[in-house]
Amino acid sequence: MGRVKCEIRDRVAIVSVGRPEALNALNREIVDEIEAVIDELAADESVMAVVIGGTENFAAGADIKGLIECDSEKARAFAFHDSYNKIMNLPVPTVAAIDGYALGGGLELALACDMRIATESAKMGLPEINLGIMPGASGTIRLPRLVGYAKACELILSGAVINAQEAEKIGLVNQIVPKEELMPTAMKWCQKFAAKGRISLVTAKKTIAKGLTFPTVEEAGRYEADEWAKLFDTEDQKEGMRAFVEKRKPVFTGK
Ligand code: CAA
Repeated sequence: MGRVKCEIRDRVAIVSVGRPEALNALNREIVDEIEAVIDELAADESVMAVVIGGTENFAAGADIKGLIECDSEKARAFAFHDSYNKIMNLPVPTVAAIDGYALGGGLELALACDMRIATESAKMGLPEINLGIMPGASGTIRLPRLVGYAKACELILSGAVINAQEAEKIGLVNQIVPKEELMPTAMKWCQKFAAKGRISLVTAKKTIAKGLTFPTVEEAGRYEADEWAKLFDTEDQKEGMRAFVEKRKPVFTGK
């Protein structure tokens, strides 16, 4: 109870887990708490971006001690995919701020975010295979979409834990920063997103994600064109373009 904190600063929500004694290992209660926070953020139109993480260890996975005696039925309660999909489906951009370990269900939490920033000493992997299981919170689904089939096979089938440099090389991490720069960098990114017009920001995120689900570029392109055209009925489009012509910064209102 009370392991998840959410603070809203300058229209950016910062969600963090506090179970340091177990390296933020995630159990059902903690993930339910995360989900409740995400439900609130999804309904709050004043929030323009979300950071998840920022603690000493991002999360060392699902709670192995709670999993040992599970049978297939009980294990389902640990399949966090529905909760993580709510993070993926947040309308605004999400950034995982990773320090320490992001393993198993912890890395899967970071994979549910749109972008990832890691410290120089962060360590990431899906080591479930070493426990006689496999990733169960959409790791087998999201990792290949991010780093490609062969790299995902390499990581998931070997259970290797990689460092931040390797993670950046394969596109798992967007940027590496010194430890003390982790949260300031995540906030800087989010403040850039927060300065945009909400409708175009939300539409762009939705279109990127939806675009990946179409079987052809032509179909995706038609979807994009529809969403793009709708933006011309917004005040932010008029403001953005007028500001360009008038050589000033736009003041978006989200209308
Ligand atoms: N579950 C439960 N407890 C965990 C844990 C986890 N995933 N990870 C760490 N802890 C606990 C340890 O048991 C230990 O507790 P005690 O002091 O009570 O013994 C404490 O956190 C500190 O951990 P270590 O002593 O092991 O610390 P270390 O620095 O020597 O090693 C580590 C760190 C390499 C991350 C190691 O803890 C580790 O390998 N953890 C497990 C990682 C893992 O396998 N994650 C996948 C879990 S399964 C999963 O996530 C399924 C899914 O897809 C949803």
